[in-house]
Formats: sequence, C-alpha cells, structure tokens
Amino acid sequence: MKRLTVPRIRSRKQDGKVEEPIVMLTAYTARQAQLLDAHCDILLVGDSLGQVIYGLPSTVPVTMEMMSNHGAAVVRGSYNSVVVVDMPFGSYEGSPQQAFDSAARLIKETGAAAVKLEGGKAMAETIAFITQRGIPVMGHVGLTPQAVNVLGGYAARGRTDAEAETILNDAIALDDAGAFAIVVEGVVEPIAIEVTRAVSCPTIGIGGSAQCDGQVLVTEDMLGMFERVPRFVKKFENIAGTIQQAAAAYAAEVRARTFPGEEQTYQPKD
Ligand code: KIV
Ligand code: NA
Repeated sequence: MKRLTVPRIRSRKQDGKVEEPIVMLTAYTARQAQLLDAHCDILLVGDSLGQVIYGLPSTVPVTMEMMSNHGAAVVRGSYNSVVVVDMPFGSYEGSPQQAFDSAARLIKETGAAAVKLEGGKAMAETIAFITQRGIPVMGHVGLTPQAVNVLGGYAARGRTDAEAETILNDAIALDDAGAFAIVVEGVVEPIAIEVTRAVSCPTIGIGGSAQCDGQVLVTEDMLGMFERVPRFVKKFENIAGTIQQAAAAYAAEVRARTFPGEEQTYQPKD
C-alpha cells in the first residue's frame, strides 16, 4: 500500500463537500501509530503530547525536540496515513522565516508530510510563505490551546457574534493562504457549518460538531485513558480500567509468588 498524500486529502473536498469524512487521530509513539494507521487518513503528532505524555499543564512548554522525536517515531510506525506534526508554541509566531526554519527542521527530522500551526488571520502570511516553499500546512482555528493564556481557558468559542465573525474570517484567511485543511476546535455548531461552507479545503472538527468534513480526537481521550475529558470526547474504550486491572493482577501474582510460573521460566534444558 502506498502512503496517502496531502493533495489527495485536499482534493477529497469537491464542490464544497467530502464524499466520506476524513478520519484523523493523534499518535505519539511508533506502536500506537502501527495500531491506528490502517484505520486513519491522517495521524496527527499533536502537541497535546505535552499533557498526555509529559504531564505538562498545557501545550505551551512543548519543545521542538519533543515534536521531532515523537514525529519520527510515528512516521516509522506508519505506512498508510499522512503524518502531520504540530509546530510547538514559540517556534513559528515570530515571522514567516522563523516558521519556515522550524517547519523545515520538523519535516527533515521526522519524515512527516506536513505541519500544523494554530492561529487565524495573523498566521495567513506565514502559511502562504511555508506552503509556497514546499511544506504543506494544516491550520487550526477556534479554540487554540497554545493561546490559553490569552483566551483564559478552554471554553467553547463562537458564542458571541463578534467571536463567530472572527473565527469565520480566520478560517477564510487560512484557506486563501493555501492551508490544505483546517482543524476547527471547540466551536458551536452554527460556526462549524459556516466555516465548512466558506472554505474550499476540508475542515476537521474536534468539538466542532458532525458538520465538519472530518473528525479528530486525542487517541488517549477516546480510549478512556483519562477520567475527566472535554464534552466533545466520546470514550470508545476504558483503557484506564484495563491497565489498572492488569497492574492489580500482576501485583497480586508477584506478591503471591504465582508469577512467574513454569511457562515463563527458563530451565537448562527446554
Ligand atoms: O495537539 C493536538 O492533539 C491537536 C488536536 C486535538 C487537533 O491539536
Ligand atoms: Na495541537
């Protein structure tokens, strides 16, 4: 099987709609990528790894090294999906040149096909600059977690007319700048509908209703790794419970000296 490409993702939206929604999940490790790859169109190496893997309080402290290392692991673990790597906070906002240098480093070090960055109108020039120089860019509007210190939290966006208009104009600016897809996070449904209608590239929702052209979730969220998750998460599994049960069973067997058994023990002749 040949790996999907960015142009093929981009052209899934024809005459304002996609035939079949685009499927995206986050992946941070090679093994996770191997397990998810056949089921996804896009694997996103999200900077959400800051909280999910590193226990950081937000995505703000995430570094280029983290994104580069996890991005390379996900590329090594996949052969079907398009791999997109998040640009970490502080690596692209300064100027289009800074953004290109960071994006080029991520692409070269990981082998990923594209980068994602957060922001609206203010990032349009940067997206055009990077795209025109050979690196496809996925946009991200609405609730943009790297801006948590400006937004003041992770509440859904677009409830006021002014906010709704800003998000719509942001998305249009990214589309015009050449973004190949746009993540629409944490917005009320009418905005997701308007944005999806207004842009020529596919929209990928997370807390953006069923009206987007695709969906993304943080894999650990949808696997039920965490007790507390945002409203937009559906838990398709209870991985936390499975892990705790396995750990408890292992601990009990070690303490009872029933593990390891014969099966797991080497003998001089076997
Ligand atoms: O970092 C991330 O996981 C993301 C997605 C949830 C869109 O940006
Ligand atoms: Na992200």
